[in-house]
Formats: sequence, structure tokens, C-alpha cells
Amino acid sequence: VPAQVSLRDALDESQRSDSVAADVAIVWRPPAAFFREQPRLRLVFNLGAGVDALLALPTLPRHVPLLRLQDAGMAGALAEYVLAAVLHAYRGLDVYARQQAAGQWQPRTPPPRGQWPVGVLGLGALGGAIARALHAHGFAVRGFARSAHAIDGVDCRAGGARDVHGEFGRFLDGLQALVSVLPLTADNAGVLDAAAWTRVARGAHVINVGRGQHIVEADLLAALDAGQLGGATLDVFAVEPLPADHPFWRHPRVRLTPHVSALTPMQPAVEQIAARLAAWRRGEPLTGVVDFSRGY
Ligand code: GLV
Repeated sequence: VPAQVSLRDALDESQRSDSVAADVAIVWRPPAAFFREQPRLRLVFNLGAGVDALLALPTLPRHVPLLRLQDAGMAGALAEYVLAAVLHAYRGLDVYARQQAAGQWQPRTPPPRGQWPVGVLGLGALGGAIARALHAHGFAVRGFARSAHAIDGVDCRAGGARDVHGEFGRFLDGLQALVSVLPLTADNAGVLDAAAWTRVARGAHVINVGRGQHIVEADLLAALDAGQLGGATLDVFAVEPLPADHPFWRHPRVRLTPHVSALTPMQPAVEQIAARLAAWRRGEPLTGVVDFSRGY
């Protein structure tokens, strides 16, 4: 299979085919019936970073270790996508597109990158890579996660992502761009709401590559319409595919892509799963095991 073919597409077919009782399952968004038909599983691999769709299945066995991909080629792809969006906003390319439509010739001088703070929400393998890439490009980078992290050159903060009057608010304060790469858990849906948008810089840009449910859509649209936010680059949505009549499709300040910021690349994913399987068969400790109580 050519390397650029998404592993998840290749797997779509096999998840539907008649099953034998297996020891190990490798899945991406399987139907709920899958786990009923597979009562003997001893290990489940998720072909992606986010396990929210799996954890939502009542049939998912809770006594079987669930492993998620860690980076496996996705971190580089995500960092590239985020950099493209951040640079687009930083250089004001949206503004120039509007000026072009109006026939206006109006040069702007971008501020020094070090004075243009970018925040990364979620600092795991993926968020960490994004923060490092932004730092390497000279931006002033802040990171926020539930637990403490240390990343060279990045101002990392920790705490609850609902506390806009506490550490989360101080993380958001004056951000010119906010990148969300949070895993979706029971307690972080809707963290990016109207209160969060009052803390970032006026005209800030929002980039969501985590899960659509983190954003309160009505609040985002209101903040864009009021000019509190300057634009949004969205790759993930609460409902996917995005319904045809959704206002994001035609909003002049929204740029969207169909959940492609980091497709699982075949080779690294296969290698990572094969290595973990071999380790498991040798009786060695597993890595990348999902903590069911934490939700990622
Ligand atoms: C993609 O959204 C993933 O969870 O890997």
C-alpha cells in the first residue's frame, strides 16, 4: 500500500468483515458491535491519538489495555499544519485577501515574532512538538496542560482549563494565536467559550486541531462577528463531516479543513504497533496505555 494512503482508510474494510475471535484488535472508530463480536481480546490498539470515540462505546472492554498511537508521524504533520496557520495569521494574509477584494494597497509591518505570543493548549507528544516548532520559528510560546511540563524555551503552565480567572486565564492573556490540541475528556468539552475569548488579544486567531467539542461554536461565531477574534482555522468539529448548512462553511473569518491536519501515516504506525506487540509478547511493560479514569 502506498505510504501516503491513510492506515485508517485501509482498515475501514477489515473492521466490517466477518470476524474470528482475536487476541489483539487494531481499530479506528469501530462500530459498537465490533467489541461484542470480539469477546476474547487481550489488547486493543487505537489507530490514532484520540480515544474519545472508543471510550464513548459502551461495548469497549474496560479490563483490556487500550493503547493509543504516540506521535507515530503525526506530530510532524500537526506541527506543519499549525505553523502554516500561525504564519498565515502572523503575516496578515487574511487581511491582505480582504484588502485585495476591496482593491486596497495598504502595507503592514508585522511585529517582532518574540512579541507575538502563541499559546498551545495540550502538551503531550503532539502539543509538545507543536510548541517546539513554534519556538524554533521565533514566536513567544506559552503552553498549558493539566499536568506540569518542561519544554525548552516554552513558558509551560498547568492547571484546570476552566479557570479563566486563574492560571488558565493567565495563559490566555494577550495571546495573538491559540492552538488547541487537547484530548477530549469528560471534563474539558466546551472549555473554549466566551469567557476564554475575553482574555486573548483583540483580533486573535484560533486554531483547533484537537476535537471540535472543545469549542462552544455559538460563542466562537459571536466573537468572530464582534471582531474579538480575527479568524479561526478549524480542522475538527463537534459533528463530522461538518453538516452542509453549518455557518462555518461560509463564514468569511473561518478557514476549515476536513480533519486532515494529521492523518495516521502507514509506516510509522505499523512500526510502532509491531514494536509494542513484540514487547507485549515478551512480557515487557506496555507504553501508551490509556488511563480510563483520565480519559486519554
Ligand atoms: C485524530 O484525530 C487522532 O485522534 O489521531
